[in-house]
Amino acid sequence: MLSEYSISDLRCITPVKVIKNSSVVVKENIIASVGKTAEHDFRTGKKYYLYPALVNIHDHFRGNYLPRVGPSKGTFYLNWAPWDDDLKSSPVYEERANVSVEDCYLLSSYKNIFSGVVTTNDHFPHKLNDDILPGLPLRVIREYALEHECSSYDLKWGDGIEIEHKRAVDQDIPFITHLEEGFDEESQSGIDILEKLGCLDDHDVLIHCIGFSDLDIEKVKDAGAHVAWCPASNMLMFNVTCKIKKILQRGINVSIGTDSTHTGSVNILEEMRYAREIYRNLYNADLDAKELVKMVTTNPARAFRMDSKIGSIAEGKLADLLLLKPQVKDPYEALVQAEPEDIALLLQEGSPIYGDLEFRELFEKRNVEFSEITLKGFSKLVKGDPAHLLKRVQENVGFAKELDFIPLDVNNV
Ligand SMILES: [Fe+2]
Repeated sequence: MLSEYSISDLRCITPVKVIKNSSVVVKENIIASVGKTAEHDFRTGKKYYLYPALVNIHDHFRGNYLPRVGPSKGTFYLNWAPWDDDLKSSPVYEERANVSVEDCYLLSSYKNIFSGVVTTNDHFPHKLNDDILPGLPLRVIREYALEHECSSYDLKWGDGIEIEHKRAVDQDIPFITHLEEGFDEESQSGIDILEKLGCLDDHDVLIHCIGFSDLDIEKVKDAGAHVAWCPASNMLMFNVTCKIKKILQRGINVSIGTDSTHTGSVNILEEMRYAREIYRNLYNADLDAKELVKMVTTNPARAFRMDSKIGSIAEGKLADLLLLKPQVKDPYEALVQAEPEDIALLLQEGSPIYGDLEFRELFEKRNVEFSEITLKGFSKLVKGDPAHLLKRVQENVGFAKELDFIPLDVNNV
């Protein structure tokens, strides 16, 4: 196996700073150095930008299927519970039942990989995903404590708020929960519930938060808790999102998450663009591209308590890297505007999981089991075999099902 190599002649977006004419050396699974080269060097000819691989803070791996399920035209939900009813009575839910759980997890893996994500969370009970996660072609974190929702609508995914939160504190892992996803009195009491139980602190990763009052925002700030912002999902279900401007102004750590494609965007790149669009619509102001990039790199790494390992490019961190063929010059704007086909190489711990044909040698020398695919007309290499996966899904549902988050040509498979 190729244990040490470098990628050189690139622009490095750490993302806190931009380093021109740079390079990275990967040794085993870590970034051994920035600015040096190794004997085995992949020169990119100055055409590439290098970022930390992306982190999608919120997803549900069983829930990625299309089309979306939402309220009937012109109406919106008061809380998430009627959405759950609509989902379970929808034809798409029935159709998805023909796809095995394992294949749902693989579909979700490629949704994330094709958009540059190497680390994410399947917000779901451990007993239902523990056996599946280690075999997936990307990192889906296994070290987390959770609740479904801190309200009486809670689906009891964990062992209870206090036990789960204590587990997070004891093990130094995140406590992840939907919170205040709605407008009725019960949905809006999430912060009060956490506070009364002594469970509001910096372990908390709070998803959605659309019911937050100004006082709730102050409490979250004081506690050092983290917010997961899923604007596409919020707007589809509720026609409103959280008070994002105020939350950002208070300096709360915000990360962007896709949620599942039953309600959210098709991938994290689309979700970043949607976040910017909705911010512009709400406040008539631009959300800075650098801030958006941090919301899918450094910020979620911190929320997951993994920032010593992932989320930025620095010596000693895991070599989770995204090499991009930029379509615009500005290095932050280039990532915000990126499409799956623009990703030249995606590395998890130094081993490629997705990329261009020019990196075939790296796939081979790192002993990755990979396949060649045609994605939106572009030839790519990817860990595993998503084309046969999609073909199998099509056979199981009985027609040529298309999923926008897996834009593969499977005609020749
Ligand atoms: Fe969710």
